Order: sequence, then structure tokens, then C-alpha cells
Amino acid sequence: MTNVRVGLIGLGVMGWRIAKNLREAGLLIGGVYNRTFDKALRFSREFGVEAFKTPSELAKASDVIITMLSDDEAVKNVIAGNDGVLSGLRPGSLVIDMSTISPSVSIELANTIKSRGGGEMVDAPVIGTSVAVERKEIVVLVGGSEEAFNRAKDVLQYTAKTIIHVGPNGFGLYAKLINNALLGSYVVALAEVVQLGKAFGLSDSIILDVLTKLSSARSPTSELKVPKMLSGGDYSVQFALKHMRKDLDIVNREASMRGVPIPMASLALQFYRMAEKMGLSEEDFAAVLKVLTKQ
Ligand SMILES: NC(=O)c1ccc[n+]([C@@H]2O[C@H](COP(=O)([O-])OP(=O)(O)OC[C@H]3O[C@@H](n4cnc5c(N)ncnc54)[C@H](OP(=O)(O)O)[C@@H]3O)[C@@H](O)[C@H]2O)c1
Repeated sequence: MTNVRVGLIGLGVMGWRIAKNLREAGLLIGGVYNRTFDKALRFSREFGVEAFKTPSELAKASDVIITMLSDDEAVKNVIAGNDGVLSGLRPGSLVIDMSTISPSVSIELANTIKSRGGGEMVDAPVIGTSVAVERKEIVVLVGGSEEAFNRAKDVLQYTAKTIIHVGPNGFGLYAKLINNALLGSYVVALAEVVQLGKAFGLSDSIILDVLTKLSSARSPTSELKVPKMLSGGDYSVQFALKHMRKDLDIVNREASMRGVPIPMASLALQFYRMAEKMGLSEEDFAAVLKVLTKQ
């Protein structure tokens, strides 16, 4: 394992922490790339790995390339754009895309990589936020061949607790999307009952206890998000609201294509859209509460 050179592209909230875990495990030898080069330089100085100027150069220096990027456009640009991963990919290389993107885009990129003889790609989206990455407790849902899954697992075990082979390309993302359809709707419901509890005159500590300790609907998400909602101002980002809106957009598109009714996730999407109109895109998605309070 130690002679596998891993490179990572996308040093955002999640990618930075994943790269740090892999560096500390001695794996991140291929180096890093980030669109905003300053961030790559900062990582390079802090952790002593090379910062590449293009995804293509990073791909030439890596056996396994991890991408952790915002959305469809970002992944398409980084893999198939000018000086993208594809132009530097060596035969036998593996691309592990950990971003949450449209399954159709991911499947198309995986087919392109295979047909050009460069290597293989798996979709490997993540359940768990930045805190879970720091604790190496994330869940990774992998779509791709059995062989590619095993290679991906050899690397991801240094930053994740649970790594599951869901099925062929795209299936890691399908599994991720049902999770985020639930999560997005659940956090809107949490915001609603936090406000209701306040209107009833319940104290913050009772609301907190009910929703995070006593309720049969308590969850790791209520533990993380209810304190943020009650503190009324701490929306420091764990998972950006713009990313939840993006995920619910994908969920709605995929469901529409299949004629599947998803009234809850469709309604939740409207809440996150309204929140974005209020300028909350970069805040944590728990800030969706402000749609109800007009803060
Ligand atoms: N944060 C979470 O809790 C969490 C949990 C599970 C899944 N996810 C998913 O994981 C992915 C990354 O999330 P994150 O929170 O790490 O996002 P983030 O902090 O917003 O980072 C996004 C990264 O993508 C890069 N990027 C954006 N647009 C680009 C483009 N057009 N070309 C090249 N690079 C581009 C950014 O580069 P710059 O630095 O130049 O902007 C940055 O490195 C998303 O798909 C998200 O839905 C996040």
C-alpha cells in the first residue's frame, strides 16, 4: 500500500481534512491541486507535499486521484476540461470521486475514463460532515467495479470508518441521494419545531433536551443542528446550505425522470431556495431556520 501514490484535488471543507488524514497515514505522495492555488500552497507548506498547478500534472504523478469538489460543473472541469485529469491520467490509474454530483454525470465521466484506456473511476460520496472526517468516522458509498472498489477501500480506510460497495457506477450516488433527501427534509422539520417550541414559551434547554436526548426522532443531526438553531447566530459552516440545495435539486431531477412522487424533498428544496435568495448560501444549512424567522 505504501507505494501507491495518492493525489487529492479540491481542498474545501471536506477535501482539506481528507487530505490531512491521508498525509498523516503516509499516503498523500502524489500531492494536491486546488482551483484557488493559494489554498494548495498553504496545504503544501503545512504538510510538505507538492502543490500542482493543474489537475493534469497531479494525475501524471499519482496512481490514485481523489476528487472532492462542489458540483457537476467542478467535477466535469477538473476531470475532462483543459489540463484536466484525463489529459494526464496514466493507464491503470484509479479516480475516486467523493463529491456529491448527478449520477448521470458521474457515469458518463467513468465511461470516458474507461474508453480512453486511462483507468477506472468510482463514485464515492460521503455521509458525515467535517467533524466526522476529523474523527475518521465518515461513511463512503462506492459505485463501480468490485476490483476498483477494493482498490479504493485500501486508500479510503485511512480516512473513513465504513466503506460500502453499493453497486456499479452511479450507485454510490443514488444511495447518497436518498440520505440527503431525508436529511434536507429533516433539518427543515427541526427548524420548524424549534420555532414552534419557542412560540409555546418552552425554554431553550427543554427544546434542546427534547430534540437531542428524549425524542424518539433524535439523531446525530439533531445533536449537531439544534444547538446551532438555538444559539441564533452560530451558523459556521459544516455543510454549506448551497450544497444541500444542490443535492435536493439533483434528487428532484432524478425523481422526476422516473415519475416518483417526493413531496417532502420537493418542499424542502423550496425552503433552501428561499434561504439562498436571502443570501444564506455560504452558511451552514441549519440556517434554513432563518426562512421561518426572517432574521
Ligand atoms: N461539507 C460537508 O459536510 C459534506 C458532507 C458530505 C458531502 N459533501 C459534498 O462534498 C463535496 C465538497 O463539499 P465541501 O463542503 O468540501 O465543499 P467546499 O468547501 O465548498 O469546497 C469545494 C471545492 O471545490 C472546488 N471547486 C468549486 N468549483 C470548482 C470549479 N468550477 N473548478 C474547480 N474546482 C472547483 C473549490 O475550489 P476553490 O477553493 O477554488 O473554491 C473547493 O476546493 C460537495 O459535493 C458536497 O455536497 C459535503
